[in-house]
Amino acid sequence: MVAEPIVTDLPAGAPPVCLADFAERARAVLPEQVWDYVAGGSGGEVTLTANRRALDRVGVLPRVLRGVEVPDLTTPLLGRRYAMPVGVAPIAYQRLVHPDGELALAAAAGAAGVPYVASTLGSVPIEEVAASGAEVWFQLYWLRDRELVRDLLARVRGAGCRALVVTVDVPVLGRRFRDLRNAFRLPPGVTAANLPNGRHDLAHGGTPGVSPVPARSGADFAPALRWADLAWLREHIDLPLVVKGVLDPRDARDAVRAGADAVVVSNHGGRQFDGAPASVTMLPEVVEAVGDRCEVFLDSGVRSGTDVLRALALGATGVLVGRPLIWALAVGGRPGAETALDLLAGELRDALALAGCADAAAARELRTVPVG
Ligand SMILES: Cc1cc2nc3c(=O)[nH]c(=O)nc-3n(C[C@H](O)[C@H](O)[C@H](O)COP(=O)(O)O)c2cc1C
Repeated sequence: MVAEPIVTDLPAGAPPVCLADFAERARAVLPEQVWDYVAGGSGGEVTLTANRRALDRVGVLPRVLRGVEVPDLTTPLLGRRYAMPVGVAPIAYQRLVHPDGELALAAAAGAAGVPYVASTLGSVPIEEVAASGAEVWFQLYWLRDRELVRDLLARVRGAGCRALVVTVDVPVLGRRFRDLRNAFRLPPGVTAANLPNGRHDLAHGGTPGVSPVPARSGADFAPALRWADLAWLREHIDLPLVVKGVLDPRDARDAVRAGADAVVVSNHGGRQFDGAPASVTMLPEVVEAVGDRCEVFLDSGVRSGTDVLRALALGATGVLVGRPLIWALAVGGRPGAETALDLLAGELRDALALAGCADAAAARELRTVPVG
């Protein structure tokens, strides 16, 4: 298992027509353990499965005769205008699936005009990712060593990142049975490039039944965060602050109180607490709880323009998309990821038109009903 070139361009043959097409192709080209690492969830993958089921159950009532020809996808997110209400979710170790890793996906996001959220566990240093031309938001995993947090924040500022996304749903890493069974470890060329070298070896060892990847996180991440820590962060960085991994509306309210500019309603793509509800199930209550005091993003299971429309109709400001873009990166590098983002934009444009919405703001006025 090495991060060798898999396919550098979109393969010949029938072009992908939707994001799911990338998953099928990625599965064919990726080593099985890498596929499992990306595709898998925690525990019995109940939450992972619920994410899709719940999104499919959101019926949106289309409006008619609204005079809409070509909907305007552009949307303000955290004070800047983007090409659509979609961002690239933070995903660790992108060089696992393609040698260009973060650089390729960030460049694709830049070309598509959407924000790229760079993970603390990126396999390319944040400075290089930020130089890719994308609007980069940095995702912070809070580290035990507060000096390291300060250093990272200084680097994030220096690199010109536009927002700080602090992930709060990883007090410990979810038990991912697939990775445990595979004794999943990082190949030698893939490291956590934003963190000090000393612990790189931790994610590379491995014996059957044990995956060293959580050992790396356990060694570095601070497990017992409190709201006061968030307030400290708020004081130490003058960027929009996003709290990722909120499901309970009470936590969303606390996030606003602690100075958050946005929350991401997320169960980490079903990778953390297996037993949590689908993110989209909690979206309306979170929207209700925070009102217009902060922006609300949704992630976990978003796979199409229709899903984006569903999220908007339930009150979201925008969505983050994770795995589908990793599949696209795996099969086609930067052009693959650009194609995927382009497909998503096209689907969203059609979905808005079909629902009679001139723009994302109009989509937030739509009504939803359960389907099935
Ligand atoms: C392989 C993988 C790695 C991830 N790494 C991170 C990470 O480093 N930081 C983070 O906040 N979330 C991480 N996530 C969670 C995503 O940001 C996001 O919440 C989730 O993937 C969204 O669900 P989706 O993949 O169904 O779109 C990761 C998800 C996957 C699949």
